[in-house]
Amino acid sequence: MAEFEKQNKTTFVSAAELAVQGEYIQKVRAVLEARYGENPKAYVHTYGCQGNVADSERIKGMLCQMGYTFAESPENADLVLYNTCAIREHAQDRVFGNVGLLKPMKKEKPNMIIALCGCMMQQKHVAEKIKQSYPFVNLVFGTHAIHRLPELLCGVLCEKKRVFSVEDSAGVIAEGIPSVRDDTQNAWLPIMYGCNNFCTYCVVPYVRGRERSRKPDIIIEEARELAAKGFGQITLLGQNVNSYGKNSGFDMNFSGLLRQLDAIDGDFKIDFMTSHPKDCTTELIDTLASMKKFSGHLHLPVQSGNNRILAAMNRGYTREHYLGLVEYAKKSIPGLDLTTDIIVGFPGENHQEFCDTLSLVREAQFASMFTFIFSPRKGTKAETLPDPVSHAEKAKWFKELTDLQEKITKGEI
Ligand code: 5AD
Ligand code: SF4
Repeated sequence: MAEFEKQNKTTFVSAAELAVQGEYIQKVRAVLEARYGENPKAYVHTYGCQGNVADSERIKGMLCQMGYTFAESPENADLVLYNTCAIREHAQDRVFGNVGLLKPMKKEKPNMIIALCGCMMQQKHVAEKIKQSYPFVNLVFGTHAIHRLPELLCGVLCEKKRVFSVEDSAGVIAEGIPSVRDDTQNAWLPIMYGCNNFCTYCVVPYVRGRERSRKPDIIIEEARELAAKGFGQITLLGQNVNSYGKNSGFDMNFSGLLRQLDAIDGDFKIDFMTSHPKDCTTELIDTLASMKKFSGHLHLPVQSGNNRILAAMNRGYTREHYLGLVEYAKKSIPGLDLTTDIIVGFPGENHQEFCDTLSLVREAQFASMFTFIFSPRKGTKAETLPDPVSHAEKAKWFKELTDLQEKITKGEI
């Protein structure tokens, strides 16, 4: 796993490299004008999490610079771009299905460009499958190549090549790319990228690179602009926002960043996701309690209520630590809207261990939760573990859990 070494040096894309992309933008603009006239249309569809939504907003920003306007459906588009998700098998199957549906469309409109990007494409075996079995796909790029979209698209349009850019990387930060936002109420604001936690079930550290934080002054300036534009909520994004600033070379942690953002003028709330319980400190909870602009929502994924399973997941905390945090947070922040994620049926989990998750859920009294049946991901440790419990049995446990949460949400428990 040498290529996934846990190095933390943040690499920023240089102004010179971004200027090169600026030249490609002009080149693509000219080719598009000659080919489609005034109004080439792009259809961008996003699968998966808010991180992907934020990436798509920047992708749309670049497409806009290249002269595209946006279509509501693939049928009306000259460029169809799917930003894909790899978190569970089900998400991947949907993408393959929907890409397959583009084949007849492309037959009718041979000039249509089909592009795939995002976490799924950052996996070698997926990119290879697209290369071999989906010859009508023109462009494939991974999460590390987003800022190079103008150059990659130029390869397709100007040189009429099939382009694949899915090299592994620890990841970079590219600033100064504009966003086209769909939502007028909430604005996504990434504060960091990547993940270093290597939870044993999770593909994210392999497809999103190492943890790296954006500079505080850039984030604060962006938040100021969003507030001035009238967004009612700014949601800070990162796989583990609680480790913001670690190994970054600047002296600011997540609590410090929140305090600075809270001081910005304007009528807006601050939300964030996702918090990792192992890095959720009492300093952070005290900060939230003291803020004027905290949304009141804390998403704190627990994943399991059993200590053996938490250790097997490499989560870095115990059930007792988690419940202690919940108690402190609820005491400090009256009316806290606490939500969580839970995985049912981690390899080797038995019914007794699952019952510990049920009892934790009763105790923590979440406002709501996102529940998932374990899905083996290629290249992760959990994929290699014996998994004797049948899917039907896991589905029964899953229903027990969602039934319990429904009763809690209704106030019956
Ligand atoms: N199987 C099932 N659920 C998963 N998650 C992440 N990886 C997997 C997997 N392999 C869930 C976790 C995480 C959420 C975003 O997705 O609960 O918090
Ligand atoms: Fe995946 Fe764990 Fe990182 Fe979250 S913290 S993205 S679950 S490895």
